[in-house]
Amino acid sequence: MMSENLHQLRCFGCGSRIAGAEARPDFRCAQCGDLFEVEYPGWSQRGGHDRPNPGALKWLWRERRSSGESLDESGVWRFRELLPILENFGNAVTLREGNTPLYRLPRAEKALGIDRILAKHQGMNPSGSFKDTGMTAALSVARERGFAWVACASTGNTSAAMAAYAARAGLRSLVLIPEGKIAWGKLSQAMDYGALTCQLKTDFDGCLKVLTEIVNQEPIYLLNSVNPYRIEGQKTPAFEIAEALDWNVPDHLIVPGGNLGNSSALGKGFREMRDLGMIPRLPKISVIQAAGANPLVRSMAANRGASLEPVEAHTRATAIRIGNPASWRKAVKVIEESGGSCLDVSEAEIAIAKAEIGAEGLGCEPASAVTLAGLKKLRSQGVVRPDETVVLVLTGHTLKDADYTIDFHRGTLLTDDEKKGLEGGLDALRRNAISLDATPAAVLSVLKGMVG
Ligand code: F0G
Repeated sequence: MMSENLHQLRCFGCGSRIAGAEARPDFRCAQCGDLFEVEYPGWSQRGGHDRPNPGALKWLWRERRSSGESLDESGVWRFRELLPILENFGNAVTLREGNTPLYRLPRAEKALGIDRILAKHQGMNPSGSFKDTGMTAALSVARERGFAWVACASTGNTSAAMAAYAARAGLRSLVLIPEGKIAWGKLSQAMDYGALTCQLKTDFDGCLKVLTEIVNQEPIYLLNSVNPYRIEGQKTPAFEIAEALDWNVPDHLIVPGGNLGNSSALGKGFREMRDLGMIPRLPKISVIQAAGANPLVRSMAANRGASLEPVEAHTRATAIRIGNPASWRKAVKVIEESGGSCLDVSEAEIAIAKAEIGAEGLGCEPASAVTLAGLKKLRSQGVVRPDETVVLVLTGHTLKDADYTIDFHRGTLLTDDEKKGLEGGLDALRRNAISLDATPAAVLSVLKGMVG
């Protein structure tokens, strides 16, 4: 199966264009140092030969859901007409990513007085996070271009996804992670899938800096979200959301913000659908950060995202413990053009929201819970109205960071200062495990008054 080579790379800063294979190993523009974005020139000519036909695609993509072909079974490659990044789709490395569930959150709907709150649970991907959708895309490019090694700096999920896809493809992978600052579930995955895993005595931003120098010296393919093909894979959940809503769009899409690749990717997905006439408009896309790791929030408040000052990041939501986000300019564009918001939430607000998502029977990792915490703020500010439809993007599985969950329920997660004013809400959500004698009487004494 051949695809014509339809794509080129356009610099997000200076607009200069290069062929895909011409990118530098660090994916920075040689002219201005900014990041690239994949562009499909054939789409812009209305009636042009390569311009995708919305009606035909909607039909085709749905048909593929009942196909047994491995490309069709992927919730990324099912949409391959909108990501023609491979010379040959036979090079795709897939683990059946995507096709993740879109769940209602009835308790949150009731509590917040909002008609429809949906959770797009990207934690239900093969390695347990949204990174799989981007990894299948970019790692397939690495394989097609003949690389033997791939690498990333990570707060844990990117490394888990990369290690898994590299193992499937028979490539070697190098992981740089900040020592002591990633969740055990994620570290264990990198080991399980056989990556060369290096813990560096620095933070995520420091790891990415080191790795940038390494890929400039060795023939190793960089798989952080500065790689524009990652973004192409990560835009596909936008297609899934629109498809699930019968090609309507939600009023609001709420996304956690770390290195800001994901918000950029989802924004690109919705933008492309709108430009091709598949959906009528964009959802308002809001980005939520942890208060201790909020460089974008500060930048938006200070100068509407014209410049960004890196911060030293601290949050227990280690996935988004990032002070110098690479894709911030792309994220600013998405927020601005969609009319979204950018705000931050405290450690206690994250913990409460995470327990509430757990109580819906779904669960998620801490970084994902910033979405519900942010929604509460947007609702109380009147930005989200009662009759609207909201989609929260839950980025990672609850088992990624079981320590956090256990500490929360034991009551040891937060400091007294962090809890201040929220003690009642926190205590009501705690469900600590109880140690008992192994007798029916002991268990019955705990159940007393609760059953019946
Ligand atoms: N949620 C989770 C669970 C994540 O792992 C990340 C990022 C984000 C949200 C933020 O997404 O960076 O695209 O803005 N994790 C990266 C990693 C940095 O290395 O796994 P973003």
